[in-house]
Amino acid sequence: MILVTGAAGYIGGYLINKLLEDDKFADYEIIGIDNFIVGYRENYDLIKKDKRVKLLEGDITDKDSLKELIRDVEIVYHLAAISGVNACNNHPDLALKINVEGTLNLLEESVKNNVEYFVFPSSCAVYGNVKDEIAREDMKIEPLNKYGAMKASCEALCNAYYHSYGLKTVVLRFTNIYGVGNYPKWRTVVANFIKRALSKEPLIIHGSGEQKRDFIHIDDVIEIYKLVINKNAEGETFNAGSGYTATIKELADIVCKIAMEKGLNPEIKFIEKREAKERFISYDITKIKEKLNFKPKYDVESGIRKTFNDIENILKKGFREYQRVL
Ligand SMILES: NC(=O)c1ccc[n+]([C@@H]2O[C@H](COP(=O)([O-])OP(=O)(O)OC[C@H]3O[C@@H](n4cnc5c(N)ncnc54)[C@H](O)[C@@H]3O)[C@@H](O)[C@H]2O)c1
Repeated sequence: MILVTGAAGYIGGYLINKLLEDDKFADYEIIGIDNFIVGYRENYDLIKKDKRVKLLEGDITDKDSLKELIRDVEIVYHLAAISGVNACNNHPDLALKINVEGTLNLLEESVKNNVEYFVFPSSCAVYGNVKDEIAREDMKIEPLNKYGAMKASCEALCNAYYHSYGLKTVVLRFTNIYGVGNYPKWRTVVANFIKRALSKEPLIIHGSGEQKRDFIHIDDVIEIYKLVINKNAEGETFNAGSGYTATIKELADIVCKIAMEKGLNPEIKFIEKREAKERFISYDITKIKEKLNFKPKYDVESGIRKTFNDIENILKKGFREYQRVL
């Protein structure tokens, strides 16, 4: 069995659908749980009806129900969290309870029930300021916010459980994930730009637009989730990015170019910056390429093109919000 926590969330629900399509995972049953604090209950309707899937309402902070749930589980894909810098800043106590204590509960029950793999989604936020602009896994981590600090704590817990108990933990330091999946995460920059272009509203850039990040398409994220069930991943931490960086201005330009090809006339508007200091971070993904043979399918432009088409289709059905903003 595979347990996916955060199954009503952006990555969790899509991961379940993609596992169901993959012959390599054909022998697994999948249990999804979510407490619907962020993802809506209706998001479960976007997950394929399949007799191998059981979708439950459950909370990872509830130790007793975890005990029941995890009994025959072999792989834990742990995606339940209060995700993002703002949400953790606004709700630090809740975030500590869910993100750190919840992860600890799952690790503990995983060991007791002989789970084999425990896959944890960390973040580039653990790096803080990267001086030479390229983040590598062997660098000292210096998180600058509560979200990053909680991710760093969970990374340390995963490593401790690997070394103390042999639980095969895998830490994935994701960058900015974009793309539609089962649904778009509208507040992310790519989805937001595309929706604005399609709605004939200006694309808003905070600050200079020179902030630079690595962007990874959600389909490449799913590929990584499949690849980590692998001897070479056990006890390891990986930069889980595409290796393709872009500035926010470059993203806006690509969205404008695609919109113009479709006969739209988009404009970009610059407003005051949101962060005191604009950050630049590129990702060295040599390790995940070499150890797991990961080859990203999408560079930034091809990924945005796919996302543009997917969002056009989804908007034809009417705009819907899929998540609460905490
Ligand atoms: N999306 C990204 O760009 C990104 C980047 C780096 C890391 N991550 C990490 O990946 C994970 C999943 O991200 P996402 O984008 O799918 O987030 P999301 O907010 O869409 O999904 C998280 C889900 O967890 C659920 N949840 C929260 N607390 C819970 C609890 N106590 N018990 C059960 N369910 C609970 C929420 O209702 C939500 O549906 C998070 O840990 C996030 O920090 C995401």
